[in-house]
Amino acid sequence: MSQGIVTVCYIGATILFILALGGLSNQESARRGNLFGMAGMTIAVIATILSGAVTSYWWIITAMLIGGTVGLAMANRVQMTEMPELVAVLHSLVGMAAVLVGYANFMDTTISLSGAEKTIHEVETYVGIFIGAVTFSGSVIAYGKLSGKIDGKPLLLPARHWLNLGAFVLVFILGKSFLHGAETGGGMVPLILMTLIALVFGVHMVMAIGGADMPVVISMLNSYSGWAASATGFMLNNDLLIVVGALVGSSGAILSYIMCRAMNRNFISVIAGGFGTTSGGSSSTDEEVGEPNPIDAEETARLLLDVKKVMIIPGYGMAVAQAQHAVHELSNFLIDKGVDVGFGIHPVAGRMPGHMNVLLAEAHVPYDIVYEMDEINEDFPDVDVSIVIGANDIVNPSALTDPNSPIAGMPVLECWKGKTTIVSKRSMASGYAGVDNPLFYMDNTRMLFGDAKEMMEAIHKAMTD
Ligand code: TAP
Repeated sequence: MSQGIVTVCYIGATILFILALGGLSNQESARRGNLFGMAGMTIAVIATILSGAVTSYWWIITAMLIGGTVGLAMANRVQMTEMPELVAVLHSLVGMAAVLVGYANFMDTTISLSGAEKTIHEVETYVGIFIGAVTFSGSVIAYGKLSGKIDGKPLLLPARHWLNLGAFVLVFILGKSFLHGAETGGGMVPLILMTLIALVFGVHMVMAIGGADMPVVISMLNSYSGWAASATGFMLNNDLLIVVGALVGSSGAILSYIMCRAMNRNFISVIAGGFGTTSGGSSSTDEEVGEPNPIDAEETARLLLDVKKVMIIPGYGMAVAQAQHAVHELSNFLIDKGVDVGFGIHPVAGRMPGHMNVLLAEAHVPYDIVYEMDEINEDFPDVDVSIVIGANDIVNPSALTDPNSPIAGMPVLECWKGKTTIVSKRSMASGYAGVDNPLFYMDNTRMLFGDAKEMMEAIHKAMTD
């Protein structure tokens, strides 16, 4: 394939990737956005394989077969609730690829550059390996934390900020020595030392971040993986990889910013680490909180049939119970009975951005009754019954009232301002951030204990019997 046609294909793929991002910003166009992305990637892969850069097809086909088989098996096996772990693993692979490409590029004796071009190439290699190594080790630790294999508590080493600063200074000094060494045919030792420091830095950075702030870390690593890909594009002189990496890098950065705003966190303080523990650090744990007031499915059914406005607030437990279809059927039944039903979605409900929207879309809940937190938070005084389904942190009033809480300042769905709140969960256990929830003890809260799916089905059954 001539270079001209390859360039045209790359431009076409870039446009498709931009359309994909645009499509993914809205639930109704998300499916179309995904198709654009798949088409763009197919064009990009075929154009690259057929370009002059590839000399041996067997290596490419073998690698694609192995990678494709492993990817397909993983995607088929993974549960919706394990998606963030999978994303973390995939980010780590992007980071590792950037490191390997960087080393291969550095050791490639066929590249003959000189002067400023050579220096720029070496800086690209050095920076690419650095970002790749931080992304790799940070993502591995993020996977460990998300899957519960590593404790979610932040690891706060004494003088950790100084340690980070020291590491940066060292990386800078090693960079100078690498550039000098590369001029004279060396440079491998500072490159390896920098890689080791970057790996430790990635581990330290994510270890210092507490469980409650993990959503931001995931989107931040998403951004890093984009920049790592972009750096790889510079190393390989591949314009498409540079552009796509920049798209992923910048969209990940914007997502991190949106997540920080949703959790009322300052981005720098999240990255600096230390917020959020899984140990239940809220001061409310020590207070006399009273007894929860239970309710059963039959009473819930009677209550719901007797009201005008119901707000359903799904959380991580709905995903665990796979209750979305049962919830949809229940909401349809209520709508048919003339009840005004809405769904209130918190931006960090569940374990990944858009988690609840994906589940509700899968269950065919109409988009026009699904509201973002900001759209409905002021309406709660008019809500007769809020049904909280497997949610906890996102409806925790202590985020607003307890400055010592690990989730202090995070905006929450203020369902307690409505007439009655029914919380469907299995026990009084805490949520992801590990903090007690005073909502469960409020006078207008009733606890519906049991698996969310079973409970939704039992309420529906009680209504129809
Ligand atoms: P959580 O606070 O984690 O609470 C989920 C609740 O679901 C638990 O208290 C659990 O109580 C209940 N549950 C679990 N299985 C259930 C089942 N089968 N049936 C009924 N209930 C069940 O969830 P949330 O309110 O959605 O908040 C999300 C949290 O995750 C936030 O702290 C957020 O920062 C964090 N986080 C979010 C993301 C993103 S990007 N969304 C990523 C990582 C972390 P029981 O055990 O008593 O049933």
